[in-house]
Amino acid sequence: MQLKDVAVLITGGGSGLGAATARAMAAKGAKIGVIDQNKDNAEKVAAELKGVALHADVTSEEQIKAAIAKAEAAHGVARVLMNCAGIGGSQRIVGRDGVYPLEKFARIINVNLIGTFNCLRLFAERLATIEPIGEERGVIINTASVAAYEGQIGQIAYAASKGGVVGLTLPAARDLASQKIRVNTIAPGLFLTPLLMGLSEEARKSLGAQVPHPTRLGDAAEYGSLAVHIVENAMLNGETIRLDGAIRMAPR
Ligand SMILES: NC(=O)c1ccc[n+]([C@@H]2O[C@H](COP(=O)([O-])OP(=O)(O)OC[C@H]3O[C@@H](n4cnc5c(N)ncnc54)[C@H](O)[C@@H]3O)[C@@H](O)[C@H]2O)c1
Repeated sequence: MQLKDVAVLITGGGSGLGAATARAMAAKGAKIGVIDQNKDNAEKVAAELKGVALHADVTSEEQIKAAIAKAEAAHGVARVLMNCAGIGGSQRIVGRDGVYPLEKFARIINVNLIGTFNCLRLFAERLATIEPIGEERGVIINTASVAAYEGQIGQIAYAASKGGVVGLTLPAARDLASQKIRVNTIAPGLFLTPLLMGLSEEARKSLGAQVPHPTRLGDAAEYGSLAVHIVENAMLNGETIRLDGAIRMAPR
């Protein structure tokens, strides 16, 4: 599918990988809807790309339905959904701070896994009502992490949530095949986003040095360009693609 004049929704589009994807897709002529719970950032990115800002929490059925309706009023029914919203959080199962709180585990699963599914299902519901363009109706791209495969010490909830995103990719592609909607996931390694920008230069260098080749942190624009390719390549479906410079994370 070509992105020119196509309406796109990007969760977590106010920052990092989501904002970079919004820029990459806008450069291809897409109409951008930025969904983010950070209102200021959503508005900033939307203003830059002449898109629409949608202030919503991915875990809320009501808020995501309202965001989809608002975007639709501005741009028409969206054909591309990019799920980038996500949160981290590190703690050992049993450690200095006691036992891992169940609520914290549930919160990370709720945003990263259930939030992804919530947006995916409500997007697909609307998309299924419009005609395909050629052989397809639209595309969903999720964001997992290499932590889905090599979760590090302290990443129990994050790794489980991202493993869930990898796990839903094929059944979602199979479920939505009859609607001609493709579903793929990107599993990024270490990318320089606001998440890592908070680290010292030294810490960033040491993280980058762990990447076999190229020996550096990923640039969010490289993530955006893979997302564009996934939309444009109709044969790519039901797959999780690692984008990681061949890193395999060590236990710590
Ligand atoms: N940066 C990396 O190296 C890296 C590596 C692997 C995976 N990831 C994943 O990529 C995605 C984007 O990460 P990033 O580095 O760009 O982070 P980021 O913090 O820069 O951006 C995440 C965005 O998601 C939004 N968000 C968080 N919870 C939300 C919610 N409940 N509803 C709506 N919006 C919400 C935040 O406001 C923020 O704008 C995340 O899913 C993250 O787990 C990032």
